[in-house]
Amino acid sequence: MDKLKLGIIGLGGRGQSMTHVLARMKDVEILAVCDEYKDRAEKGGKIARRDNPLITTDYHKVIEIAEIQAIMIFTSWESHIPLAIEAMKAGKDVGMEVGGAYALQDCFDLVKTAEETGKQCMMLENCCYDRFELMVKNLVDQGKFGTVVHCEGGYCHDLRGEIAFGDKNRHYRLRNYLKRNCENYPTHELGPIAKILKINDGNRMVSLTSTASKSCGLHEYFTLKRPNDKELIDAEVKQGDVVTTTIKCENGETIVLTLNTTLPGVYSRKFTVNGTKGMYREDGDVFILEGEKPRGFIRREMKMKGKNHVRRYEHPIWVKYRRERKKGGHGGIDYLVLRAFVTGLLENRYLPIDVYDTAAWMCITPLSEISIANGSQPVEIPDFTHGMYKNRTERNGGMYDLS
Ligand SMILES: NC(=O)c1ccc[n+]([C@@H]2O[C@H](COP(=O)([O-])OP(=O)(O)OC[C@H]3O[C@@H](n4cnc5c(N)ncnc54)[C@H](O)[C@@H]3O)[C@@H](O)[C@H]2O)c1
Repeated sequence: MDKLKLGIIGLGGRGQSMTHVLARMKDVEILAVCDEYKDRAEKGGKIARRDNPLITTDYHKVIEIAEIQAIMIFTSWESHIPLAIEAMKAGKDVGMEVGGAYALQDCFDLVKTAEETGKQCMMLENCCYDRFELMVKNLVDQGKFGTVVHCEGGYCHDLRGEIAFGDKNRHYRLRNYLKRNCENYPTHELGPIAKILKINDGNRMVSLTSTASKSCGLHEYFTLKRPNDKELIDAEVKQGDVVTTTIKCENGETIVLTLNTTLPGVYSRKFTVNGTKGMYREDGDVFILEGEKPRGFIRREMKMKGKNHVRRYEHPIWVKYRRERKKGGHGGIDYLVLRAFVTGLLENRYLPIDVYDTAAWMCITPLSEISIANGSQPVEIPDFTHGMYKNRTERNGGMYDLS
């Protein structure tokens, strides 16, 4: 059996869980694992012990291994694009975790490197493979929603605990929240929406405006949970608690993204698709009071059996996945996105999330930062495909193709 030979960089929480999934795949061989922290690199070595990988704290040593075909980047946001560029220049394909870019130019550099080297770079956006997002895509593709006019999505996740103890937990979010004010995590919701609206496949995002609320959640949390940490309590938190971004697409659709990670809340990606003949909305009525269990109210007209609907309109990817009873993190979506990457490369296919998607989704972060800094001014979103989005053919693939 042909095996995809991998090197893994970044073994924090995410890197470890993704390595667990990869280490169980028969057609994958992990030749090296790396983290700047020795204990984490060693943990990765244990997870991948079947393949007896090189364990290192220096990522250069991973990239220089000739037999490695693809580099998996599970590091913190800041290093995604630099590492991906270095890996592609060394002749490796890249699978990269989600996150926004830091500068628009970095997105152009990423695309240019992929074009010059002929290597593939796929953002491993697992939410593109979620059962409900794919069900809606299936319905839209069958025309059941009519013409899609408007989509919404969000990253609503109360991360105050993770952020506030970032300096102690060796986590990157705290330093980002102190220094930047932007839509810092757009891709979980934007990825599936972009696939539904055929962004980079006949459509594209042309402009955005972003607005940030004031910033109160983290400061209040620091005061409560880290009362002796004067430096943190006195620090200015740049990141607004809620950032709302409106994107206009060339074909006329609007997309609204909401980032809400520093106030009480329940997890939601707010996935909403509204067409002329149908609509889907993830969120129901939610009521939260800190210290009490979240409560919801089900509307009378919606007490029908949603589960049957999901089965009836299930996307073929999920029909196959449920039949094979595979597992693998976040209810299966980690497995599915990794299979798309692994089988795509082993079969020498064009990957379903390509470097143009990756750049278009990541650029929302620096562009939102510019818009917020300029009083919510509209900012142009570039076309990274050089006009190719109008008529693309290379994305036709097999089972795991999302184009
Ligand atoms: N798709 C998902 O569902 C999902 C879930 C969680 C996290 N993530 C993403 O995964 C990534 C990692 O998140 P995390 O929570 O594991 O973060 P983390 O901070 O716990 O881990 C990141 C690790 O990368 C290492 N690292 C950074 N730069 C490095 C370099 N140059 N060389 C070697 N190691 C380096 C750090 O030492 C750290 O251990 C982020 O992009 C995050 O957004 C995705």
